[in-house]
Amino acid sequence: MARIVAGIGSSHVPAIGAAIDNGKTEEPYWKRVFSGFVKSQEWMRELKPDVAIIVYNDHASAFSVEMIPTFALGCAVEFPPADEGWGPRPVPVVQGHPALASHIAQSVILDEFDLTICNKMEVDHGMTVPMNLLFGKVDKDAHWPCPVVPLAVNVVMYPPPTGHRCFMLGRAIRKAVESYPEDLKVVIFGTGGLSHQISGPRAGLINSKWDKSFLDNLSKDPQKLVKIPHIDYMREAGAEGIEMVMWLVMRGALDDKADEIYRFYTVPASNTAVGHIILANRPRGAAKKAATKSKRPAVKHKRAAARVKSAVRRSKR
Ligand code: DHB
Ligand code: FE
Repeated sequence: MARIVAGIGSSHVPAIGAAIDNGKTEEPYWKRVFSGFVKSQEWMRELKPDVAIIVYNDHASAFSVEMIPTFALGCAVEFPPADEGWGPRPVPVVQGHPALASHIAQSVILDEFDLTICNKMEVDHGMTVPMNLLFGKVDKDAHWPCPVVPLAVNVVMYPPPTGHRCFMLGRAIRKAVESYPEDLKVVIFGTGGLSHQISGPRAGLINSKWDKSFLDNLSKDPQKLVKIPHIDYMREAGAEGIEMVMWLVMRGALDDKADEIYRFYTVPASNTAVGHIILANRPRGAAKKAATKSKRPAVKHKRAAARVKSAVRRSKR
């Protein structure tokens, strides 16, 4: 049986990709941003997932404003990097996992989530930047460490799906993965956000209080987040803060109780508050035991790095 072992939340700021592609990662401005992903890359190297499901949004690269699917699942063999105006990023073509993707499409659509099936699709910074942040820089002629099932969510044209719909889609994806017969270790990414607005009178808006509370609730009480209406995201987190609903697909695909094993937050990168979190599912069977134990102590950011190793061991079991 395939199983989702962990969920990763990560911003996808395009300038982060440009910093990598143009050799600027050691500059102090960018070093601050990349420093928050060093431990995560170590964690990912140790975990060695078989597949990553990446929930991201297309920024009018694969889809134009003429046609915008609400949820689009990539079922192709491969996904080339899109030309976003200055040529495609110098990153490898992303390999797909058509067998798992088709299985997810069947399971989720029969569960009444009407996905668009994409058998040909280019992918933009929304996907390749979080891949770099978690997998590191990968030479254009090399290979990403694992195949990817992309799930593109419309957050660029009103109306995007609700947070609740996203969360429930995550649940349906978890069910789909767990009914896939091959033993696969799967991770799921929720990308985008956190607070940012890139145009209009409020351009440059960042709301750290909102972001941090979102991360706290994502970790411990996601039901609080599923009720947040679009207007609150817009008001509190800026027009592009709506990207945060994609993190709820990731959270819905995890067990109700998941362990926060890492968190990072920095302001700004380009116009955006960069957020990053790793949540690991407990090994099956252990979840029940833990529920009967007294309350677990809160995970402190400073100690997160030290916890990464033991959490990896647990998530591998
Ligand atoms: C920025 C952030 C985004 O998420 C995006 O898609 C485009 C630009 C920014 O911070 O500049
Ligand atoms: Fe974006």
